[in-house]
Amino acid sequence: MRIGKNTFWKATFFFMWLGLGLAVSEKSGLAKSKSEKSPSDVVDNFRLLDHQGKSHELYRQAQAPVVVLIVGGNGCPIVRQSIGTIKALRDRFAEQKFVFWFLNANSQDDQVSIAAEAKEFGIEFPILMDAAQLVARSLKITRTAEAIAISTKDWKIFYRGAIDDRLGYATQKVKTTQPFLVDALENFLAGKKISPAATKVKGCAISFAAIVPADGKTISYTKEIAPILQKNCVVCHSAGNIGPFAMSSYEKVKGWSSMIREVFLEQRMPPWHADPQHGKFVNDRSLSTEQIKTLMAWIEQGSPRGNGPDPLATEAPPAVPDWPLGKPDYLVSMPKEVQLPATGVFPYRYVMVESPIPEDAWLRAAVVKAGNRKVLHHCLVFVKYPKTAGRPQTDDRGGLAGFFAAFLPGTEEVTFPEGTGKFLPKGTKIIFQLHYSATGKVETDLTEMGLYLCKTKPQTELHTRSAVKTVLDIPPGDRDHEVDAQFTFARDSTLYSLSPHMHVRGSRVKYEAFYPDGKREVLLSVPNYDFNWQTLYRLAEPKRMPAGTKLVCSGAFDNSPQNPANPDPTKLVHFGEQTFDEMFIGYFNYAELPQGNGTAAAAAADKAGKRAAK
Ligand code: HEC
Repeated sequence: MRIGKNTFWKATFFFMWLGLGLAVSEKSGLAKSKSEKSPSDVVDNFRLLDHQGKSHELYRQAQAPVVVLIVGGNGCPIVRQSIGTIKALRDRFAEQKFVFWFLNANSQDDQVSIAAEAKEFGIEFPILMDAAQLVARSLKITRTAEAIAISTKDWKIFYRGAIDDRLGYATQKVKTTQPFLVDALENFLAGKKISPAATKVKGCAISFAAIVPADGKTISYTKEIAPILQKNCVVCHSAGNIGPFAMSSYEKVKGWSSMIREVFLEQRMPPWHADPQHGKFVNDRSLSTEQIKTLMAWIEQGSPRGNGPDPLATEAPPAVPDWPLGKPDYLVSMPKEVQLPATGVFPYRYVMVESPIPEDAWLRAAVVKAGNRKVLHHCLVFVKYPKTAGRPQTDDRGGLAGFFAAFLPGTEEVTFPEGTGKFLPKGTKIIFQLHYSATGKVETDLTEMGLYLCKTKPQTELHTRSAVKTVLDIPPGDRDHEVDAQFTFARDSTLYSLSPHMHVRGSRVKYEAFYPDGKREVLLSVPNYDFNWQTLYRLAEPKRMPAGTKLVCSGAFDNSPQNPANPDPTKLVHFGEQTFDEMFIGYFNYAELPQGNGTAAAAAADKAGKRAAK
């Protein structure tokens, strides 16, 4: 057949249009409605916690050639009977370090029941918990017992479908005649063609909330979406705040909707890194599973606007006051602006000034206000008491043992907990420790601290202290270099808040209390530490720490090339101030009980601990 000019152009346009359509649907990932994600599709990155509280991110698995996802689900007989096969596969490909993950996207299963199922049926694999069904929807998963094999070279699926042909709903073959998954994995390793690259799965159907409900009503931006954003995102995503774009109208949010989907899949936003299994915190920024589902369903529906005025455009976003706690009673200012060159790595700067308060003072808050947020990475404030105050100098170790006040990325301005205050004797020297990073332009900074006086003397003094480890030797390439540090409470105390500090190789951290009666409790677990967010985790219920309680901070560093923040995976890394060095500090705020006990043993242990840490 001769192709006429006309036909040629028609065909070209048709294919261009098709290409465009594909490109668009590829980007949103969810627009493809009917077919499953098939072999040759690129899998979007995702991060999930497993049933034991460990964080797993797909794009951080490039150390292995293959990631195999097995769709699990409590109570599914086909999954239960496949576990042995998967274990055998893991052993068969142990040398090649294939990664095997189970994925649970059942809305009826939770962490406790998933952990129980894992124990009962010997599932020795991480079971990734996809409660909001983000990964399941992104991969168009519909049934359990499906295997999805992903090449980490290009993040494409090279096989998806049944594990083998042995198990059916009511039937079971004695022998596998078609070991689909093992064949696919073998052929992949051998660089051979994979056939079949997709098979039909016999597993238990997963229930998904309908994207468009039976009554055909779509989710309304004005009624349902805008209120979620106003409550959880606009505080940062508004003009003058730290979010990179303002959620200031329907059009803006709609334009960012693909990115919103991405940050949910990677669990980057809202910025909150505590495992919900441990501890409750007043400043928890996370969204509920239902809220995430609603937002994702809305994006999948094409982000419909709904009727009525646009709340984000018509209601004023939160104001950005200079001093969120009001005008301070006293200001501590540096004597002059700090001048910074355009480039270079700057050692920490120290600026010392005298306390401006002419008498001994109790403070209800001390807020450090960054002068120039573009250059100031962080500022810790220490105090040096006058001899006349008769107090031990506790903060003389450059912030390792604790600090008086701080400006850190992501911290909020808050008053000290009810009934507590920080003591500032007259004549105290105030030391600003300033860490700057170059912006490419000459910059100046004038950082200040606002002091707020207590109306009456508080019951007890608040201290910021730490469990710290100052000897670090993190081998090059090590994916999970574990460390720990501890602190013992010498006297009965109340613990209010926790703030872990590591640098860019820090990957996870946990605070655990070992009580004198032998009980232990995880107070905070951050399975996916992010240096960009130095959060102060404020306990919803302050915790009693009886004298002798040991607070243990344990964590790990990822010095491998799979850590995207790692500046140099070939380097042996030691303790140091710069972000390319490392630190391991578990800060916390506590106050001793006014009438509490202090055991002799605990006091001695405390002293010994201090000496050892020096
Ligand atoms: C505490 C402040 C804060 C809150 C709350 C917050 N964001 Fe962000 N957001 C940021 C900052 C800072 C960035 C840029 C740096 C980063 O990605 O960490 C960002 C980046 C983003 C991006 C762009 C992608 C990127 O990585 O640059 C999206 C999309 C986003 N946020 C969505 C949301 C949504 C949706 C919410 C609410 C559910 C939310 N954020 C809540 C501070 C915040």
